[in-house]
Amino acid sequence: MESKKIIVTGGAGYIGSHTVVELFNHGFEPIIVDNFSNSEKSVLVGLREITGRNIKLFEGDCSDPNFINDIFKVERDVAGVIHFAAYKSVGESIKFPIKYYSNNLGSLCALLEAMEQHQVRYLVFSSSCTVYGAAKKLPVTENTPVVTPFSPYGNTKKISEEIISQEAQNRKQLKAISLRYFNPIGAHPSAVIGELPIGVPSNLVPYITQTVAGARNQLTVFGDDYNTPDGSCIRDYLHVVDLAKAHVKALDYLFDQQEDPYDVFNLGTGHGNSVFQIINEFEKVVGKKVNYVVGDRRTGDVPVMYANADKAHQFLDWRTELSLEDALADSWRWQEKISL
Ligand code: UFG
Repeated sequence: MESKKIIVTGGAGYIGSHTVVELFNHGFEPIIVDNFSNSEKSVLVGLREITGRNIKLFEGDCSDPNFINDIFKVERDVAGVIHFAAYKSVGESIKFPIKYYSNNLGSLCALLEAMEQHQVRYLVFSSSCTVYGAAKKLPVTENTPVVTPFSPYGNTKKISEEIISQEAQNRKQLKAISLRYFNPIGAHPSAVIGELPIGVPSNLVPYITQTVAGARNQLTVFGDDYNTPDGSCIRDYLHVVDLAKAHVKALDYLFDQQEDPYDVFNLGTGHGNSVFQIINEFEKVVGKKVNYVVGDRRTGDVPVMYANADKAHQFLDWRTELSLEDALADSWRWQEKISL
């Protein structure tokens, strides 16, 4: 693979920015494409601080075919694309489904067309374990049946996977991987980049860190009457730096080894933790109390979800290296930095 240029759509976002760092660390030349609809320009300063370089940026909307096409015209020899750019709020997607279908599917289609036109063969897509719905058997493997997810957001991930799979089967030039993330948490250990939730966070760990920092009064635990050991929901929380590294491994695999035009991989630790376990672990690691109350169940939450990530280990040579303690400590360090 001669060219090292990798287009990273949504590269200013939470997982995108950590992936840009890992691409850089592995000798690639990441090029960010982002419209900052759910991120801030300050992340570019953080990326410069970590990498010592100005990472190239194209600012605009990925669902605009002309904009995306022009990027490939300028950057002639792109080696591959990692596609993160998408709206990602489950709750918002239920209120505004068209916004989600139009943006998430529109950007993917525009990207695939531009890749075809400019003969860019390799794509890594950011998908989610939400495609498994409430799986009957745990842990979920890549052979666990995919269902129609409860939320329009989740459904855009399922449909996107189908679009990519069909496109890769039909157009032999395209080789693609969908990575099904479980629950990414944490921040870069430098505390220079991390998650920047705009408005009230809907995810557990940012809500915990903001509560402890005093920006929120209290965390609501969404239900303690599930059929789990402590009654709260169980998820597979993995460090965002581990997750970012998997994208580099996936690209390497696409370039060198993958025979099938399309494949999917689960990315998780293989272990589940309940909401109460996360609260307890956070209190232990950070040495501060989390003020919480128990509330009603949140619509659409599945009781238990954790990964079997053996396939990623076997084929991508990837497994998580950082612990839950690392992730919670890094989340808190990042929260302290942005609270200043
Ligand atoms: N939770 C709370 N209180 C909160 C926030 C979350 O108790 O304020 C609980 C949830 O009920 C759930 C757990 O913490 O049991 C994790 O919730 P998150 O919102 O952090 O994560 P989810 O597992 O719900 O969501 C993740 C991704 C979504 C994806 C979904 C698929 O963030 O993008 O998995 O299941 F759609």
